[in-house]
Amino acid sequence: MNNPVRVNSWNSWDPLRRIIVGRAAGTMVQAPEPAVFRDWPQDGFPRGTYGPLPDDMVAAAEEQLDGFAALLRGRGIAVDRPEPLDFSRRTETPEWTQDTMFGCMPPRDVLLTVGSEILESTMSYRSRWFEYLCYRPLLESYFHADEAMRWEAAPKPRLTDASFHAGFWDEFEALGFDEQIQRVRANDLCLTEAEPLFDAADVCRMGKDLFVQLSLVTNRGGYRWIRQHFPEHRVHAVTFDNTHPLHIDATWVPLRPGLVLHCGERAADPEMLGYFKTNDWEVLEAAAPRRTRDDLPKLCFCSPWLAMNILSLDPNTVCVEESERDLAEQLSGRGFEVVPVPFWNVAPFGGGLHCATVDIERDGELQDYFP
Ligand code: ARG
Repeated sequence: MNNPVRVNSWNSWDPLRRIIVGRAAGTMVQAPEPAVFRDWPQDGFPRGTYGPLPDDMVAAAEEQLDGFAALLRGRGIAVDRPEPLDFSRRTETPEWTQDTMFGCMPPRDVLLTVGSEILESTMSYRSRWFEYLCYRPLLESYFHADEAMRWEAAPKPRLTDASFHAGFWDEFEALGFDEQIQRVRANDLCLTEAEPLFDAADVCRMGKDLFVQLSLVTNRGGYRWIRQHFPEHRVHAVTFDNTHPLHIDATWVPLRPGLVLHCGERAADPEMLGYFKTNDWEVLEAAAPRRTRDDLPKLCFCSPWLAMNILSLDPNTVCVEESERDLAEQLSGRGFEVVPVPFWNVAPFGGGLHCATVDIERDGELQDYFP
């Protein structure tokens, strides 16, 4: 690492100095487990089957990830990379065994940086239980290099059958839209409340305020644990009209103080909207993605709204997937410099430009944007 390490990031828009960019190598269509539903018969993975993503897809994703890392370095940002494990290995705890792991493309899901703290989230898939190990070499090096870094981990979850509603997926997928939304609003989804569970990517950081999406991978206990863990913050639990909520960063994306990008298809809580409006924030409906569901890359478990999964380099500069020209135009119109980045080949590995990264250092201090 060239620049000295200083862990510091309070939001997603202050000027970026250091970041982790994930890797695609070794990623698996993971073996079945209670929380995960994969069924891609046309692409060689009918329900219940598993295996590595095809080599050509891995190579294409690695090329885009490396290109993105080079682009960031070219702008003077330090870029660190995780170390993949052999994700095809079976793993176990004393309470379960799981036939494969997943991968380490989306660091955003695993690590949450708040100020000088990096928090390892619980995760809620058995296939992702050990994913933190990919980041341990970096976390150890940050810990040694930066005396002020605070390194934390949420309680490792047990993930026994008691943590999951048996038969959830078959039951849920048979419901109509309205019933699914009711279940989402009540957070009556796959996870039980047996133990606190959350993915870091369900947390949206806005200085003193943290917004935690209750989702398929984050339960109320997870939200409560985060709230207790950050006593100096205002921590809000939020839901959206999204039938498959999984990570907040393609739904609610703050761009700079006073401006947040919102996926209009996924209505926000009236209470949440009110909180933003009374504090003079503008909620901007993102331009529709150029891709439809039908032209997503194969084996992709994300939606076209990955288009708005953008990475801010500073309050005036955003990285946007290169083919998403409507969104780019919309943001240029708002005065942003838009940096186009080819990235759709990475989607099947777990996400877009924001998912693929995790902030380690941005300039700036803790601020209250909702005073
Ligand atoms: N589930 C979101 C969607 O398809 C994608 C968010 C992915 N985010 C992440 N951090 N992996 O709309």
